[in-house]
Amino acid sequence: MAKLVVVTRDGTEKEVDGQEGLSVMEIIRDSGFDELLALCGGCCSCATCHIHVDAAFADKVDPMSEDENDLLDSSAHRDATSRLSCQIHFKAALDGLKVTIAQED
Ligand code: FES
Repeated sequence: MAKLVVVTRDGTEKEVDGQEGLSVMEIIRDSGFDELLALCGGCCSCATCHIHVDAAFADKVDPMSEDENDLLDSSAHRDATSRLSCQIHFKAALDGLKVTIAQED
């Protein structure tokens, strides 16, 4: 199974199994990370699933929609690597994807 590497806010790195078809948010949440609140459940309206995507995978993840872009603007911790994890669908090509949970706003 393809792997997803999750880095928590304190810098701890953990590798988890990434089930294809799920969003990165769902994989992180189902793997027991309680830092990722994902309050809206994945409908792109809360921005509490904010992550930073490793630069090596920037062009492999799903492209950003206008809604996601607008929502990310509400975060004080946005940078060039920011994404909403509920908007990235996990697939085999993303094996080894490394994401860091963004600081809380
Ligand atoms: S879970 Fe709410 S925007 Fe991703």
